[in-house]
Amino acid sequence: MQIQKVIDEITHDVQSKLANFDGEVASYIPALASVRPDQFAMAVHTVEGETFYGGDCEKLFTIQSVSKVLTLTLALQRYGNELWQRVGKEPSGTAFNSLTQLEFEQGKPRNPFINAGAIVTCDALYSRLSAPTHHMLETVRWLSGNQRININQLVSRSEYQHRHRNAAMAHLMASFNNFENEVDEVLKVYFGFCAIEMNCVELAKTFSYLANKGVDVASQQRILSTKQNSQLNSLLFTSGLYDAAGDFAYRVGMPGKSGVGGAIVAIVPGQFTVAVWSPKLNSYGNSSAGLYALEQFANKLSLHLF
Ligand code: DON
Repeated sequence: MQIQKVIDEITHDVQSKLANFDGEVASYIPALASVRPDQFAMAVHTVEGETFYGGDCEKLFTIQSVSKVLTLTLALQRYGNELWQRVGKEPSGTAFNSLTQLEFEQGKPRNPFINAGAIVTCDALYSRLSAPTHHMLETVRWLSGNQRININQLVSRSEYQHRHRNAAMAHLMASFNNFENEVDEVLKVYFGFCAIEMNCVELAKTFSYLANKGVDVASQQRILSTKQNSQLNSLLFTSGLYDAAGDFAYRVGMPGKSGVGGAIVAIVPGQFTVAVWSPKLNSYGNSSAGLYALEQFANKLSLHLF
């Protein structure tokens, strides 16, 4: 009850000042530029299976970099600690699509949440799965509880057409022997994952396992071991919001992951997953209203982990 009351308060507050938040809708992916900026949604899914929500929760958006958490989850299921030979665990301190660090560090991306790290993790998945896109969609449909979840092909194709930067990262990694498959084939899979479309309630449900020691709340099936789940949450805390991870840790105090579609997912371990969505992004590529809403939520319910 208290959670719903707080969501209602925050939704009312954010909606009354949506026009005032700084930033722009992502436009470097042309198909994203047409999304209406004045939208906001917020949803909580608890480890007891309750859902609370407010705002534009029927609206669909592409999850973009939030998919990197699922990519990492599927890769950890298959590779365990072996994965860390190809991607690091350190915060990057650079933008999500930066190329410079990759050259200095011999083609091993700093972490699995920057683009290069997610692309190399996709490459690893591509090597072990005969139909990675199908497998990811099946996983997301099951976790979200919606069998109709799909890829927004317009967005996915738009990203593929404008893939130069991500392709440059993949080729650079290949030049350091840290790539196993055809760059463009892996990129198609990566962009498909980014363009998975869902609403805010489905987003909170999809990541319920992160708050529940690695066990999906609805099905009670184990997704990750308890230890892997703790480790993934640690990485989200240190790197989930790229070069703004420190600010998010300071203001919100939870593990979290953002995407340029305007979504942010945050975790309160042992309690719930909270998802927000609002398309206007700050200069780090994180939703401005989403950040504000999560900070308010953490303050009002004293959720800061420290
Ligand atoms: O590869 C890209 O640039 C996008 N598909 C995903 C980037 C993203 O969401 C970064 N997040 N804030």
